[in-house]
This record gives sequence, C-alpha cells and structure tokens, in this order.
Amino acid sequence: MGWKTLDDMDLKGKVVLVRVDINVPVEAGRVTDATRIERIVPTVKDVLARGGKPVLLAHFDRPKGKVVPEMSLRVVLPALEAALGTKVAFAEDCIGPKAAEAIAALPAGGVLLLENTRFHAGEEKNDPGFAQALAAGGDIYCNDAFSAAHRAHASTEGLAHLLPACAGRLMQAELSALEKALGQPERPVVAVVGGAKVSTKLDLLGNLIARVDTLVIGGGMANTFLAAKGINVGKSLCEHDLADTARAIMDKAEAGGCEILLPLDVVVAREFKANAAHETVAVDACPSDAMILDAGPETVVKIVAAFRASKTLVWNGPLGAFEIEPFNEATDDAAREAAALSKGGRLLAVAGGGDTVAALNASGSADDFTYVSTAGGAFLEWLEGKTLPGVAALETA
Ligand code: 3PG
Ligand code: MG
Repeated sequence: MGWKTLDDMDLKGKVVLVRVDINVPVEAGRVTDATRIERIVPTVKDVLARGGKPVLLAHFDRPKGKVVPEMSLRVVLPALEAALGTKVAFAEDCIGPKAAEAIAALPAGGVLLLENTRFHAGEEKNDPGFAQALAAGGDIYCNDAFSAAHRAHASTEGLAHLLPACAGRLMQAELSALEKALGQPERPVVAVVGGAKVSTKLDLLGNLIARVDTLVIGGGMANTFLAAKGINVGKSLCEHDLADTARAIMDKAEAGGCEILLPLDVVVAREFKANAAHETVAVDACPSDAMILDAGPETVVKIVAAFRASKTLVWNGPLGAFEIEPFNEATDDAAREAAALSKGGRLLAVAGGGDTVAALNASGSADDFTYVSTAGGAFLEWLEGKTLPGVAALETA
C-alpha cells in the first residue's frame, strides 16, 4: 500500500494533527453510539506511546462554515475521555490564537481536541489558506478518518500535502478489510445490497456485478427489480421509472456470469408500522393493496446457501424494513448465519454503511463479522470503485 503509517514516522516531541471522525449520533446532549470514538483509541494511544502529542481535528454535523453552538464538538468530550481513560483538553477554535495557545499548553502525555473544523468555510472548500492555518499548529499529519475520506476537505485532503503525512490505525484497518473483501478477495464472493432505493445505489450495483459472483438484492430496491420482471408488487415502495435500468443491470450481470438473487417469497402487510398484520406469500402473489416489507424464509434459505458456498461476503443495506418489527427477520436471520460462518473462519464477512451497522447491531451479529466499517458514505463510495480523496492524498503525500 502506498502510504506511510505511524510506524514510519518519528513522533518524539512532535505535535501530531490527527484527523478523526467522531461525527457520532447525539441525543439530548449525550452520545448514543460511541463506536466511532472507541475505534480511534488505538491511534491516539499509539501517538502517545511514541512520544507524540495528539491534537485531534474533527468535524461534527453540518454547520456549513459558520459557528453553530449546538454543533460544538464539546458534546463528545465526556465520551472521548471515557474511551481514552484520560482527560482531554479542548480549544474553542481549530486555527488561530485559541488553537495555538492550547497546543502550546499541551503537556507530554496530554490529548487535545480542537473545535469543529466545519465552523470555518475554508474546511469544505479545501481552501489552501485555511489548510495552511491548520498546518501551522502541527508537525505531522495523521489521517484516521476513513469515514470522512470521501470528502476533499482541508482537514481530510489538503493537510496531507502540507505536513509529513501518514495513515492512522483505523484508516489502515478499514482499507485492509476493504481490500480483502473486494480488492483481492478470495472467491467466490457474494454481496448483499439492500436499502430503499435503486436510484441511490446504481453505481454500486454497476461496480459489484462486475466483481462478485453472487449479488443478493434486498429491501425496497428489490421491488424495482421484481416489477421490472413483470411481477406485481402491489403498493410496495418501487421506482417504476427505473425498470429499464434494472433490466439493464440484470442483463449485464447475466452476461458477466454474476448471479442475482431476488426474493422468492415475501412478507406483505397493508400498513407500514410495527407489528402490522402480515403474511408470507410467494413473490408473485403480493395482493394489489399490500406492500412487501421483508423477504420471506425461503429467500433466506437461498441467501444462506449462497453464503455457505462463498469465501467472501460484502454487505451493504438491510433486506427488509428492519427498523419495524417483525420486518427485521430476514435481515437478522441472514446476518446471524453470516456471523456464525465468519466466526467459524469459513467466510470473510465485511459490512458497512449507515443502516447496515444499525441493523447488524440490532441482530447482535456485528461482533462476529470479520470487519464492520465505521463508514457510511465513504464505504459506499469505495464499493462503487471511486477514489476517495482522503486516501488518494495519503498515497501521493
Ligand atoms: C459521516 O458521518 O458519514 C461522515 O462523518 C461524513 O459526514 P458528512 O456526510 O456530513 O460529510
Ligand atoms: Mg453522512
């Protein structure tokens, strides 16, 4: 891999600007899922162990270049301190005198968090002047924010060109998991792509059919494919205008030897709500006044058989309306099987993308997957075959 890691840097006595992604969910002033915070701990501890001074750069939410007090990174301090097991200093600005004073006051062994980089318009514009102002605070740049690497911002891209740069431990872990899953995978490879809409996943489907042996399509987007095949999907969520696109994807998959697995049976209901009255029917028997909310058990058997026949699994998106019971069943059952195969060493299973991680956590299977990415959009763009600017900058730095 063409980038440096912490192993390649001399950090002794150096201020290390560590770009992290601690854009975590917060409700009523409390972090509700600290996963992203926990996953940066190895990097921060490693910088400390090598005698460096970690100064954390991060964004939070989307303040759009203005100071929005409700989007202050201060809210994550308690969770960050708990994860690191140490006090963390905070500076009210990421550049200028406030940042400089806090950095100068940072003792050896201390950790400093700087305020939201997106409070400055220069961050998202990747403005060279703003990047210079950030760079002025440090000696070395370490990018550990894979989940923000699809953004070409000053703190994710620009800085890599201004300071000696390296990848952090989480960045390394994410890239190596993705490389094993899709770059140089052990075959056969099966992918699960779910979620509501085909329109948001066209590039993903296009890239995957050229790379995987079996593609499982689930969730609302499966309905678009079913309808394109002439199957009545009743009142289901369906992008009827994408029928031609769906047919083109299926034709291309067939020509390239990629098997597409669509639902064989489906769980249908008349209302989109938890515990709505429901029934399982054959895929071509959806009543006209009902909607498909999950894949049925026969489909899950087929999906699990595909997992068993494969060496590698990439998973993005749920198979049904997993957020309302019992329409989480297909996702849960398939995820548990994948987790068991992965735990048994028979399947390398990598999952990522916002809803995916929530769904796997809900089924209790996330821990047994080989790797669960912290990334949403960045995971998707990587699977689409796109170059991530934050990663590319490390490669050329
Ligand atoms: C994320 O939460 O996916 C990353 O932190 C990137 O955030 P953004 O979508 O606001 O750029
Ligand atoms: Mg996002």
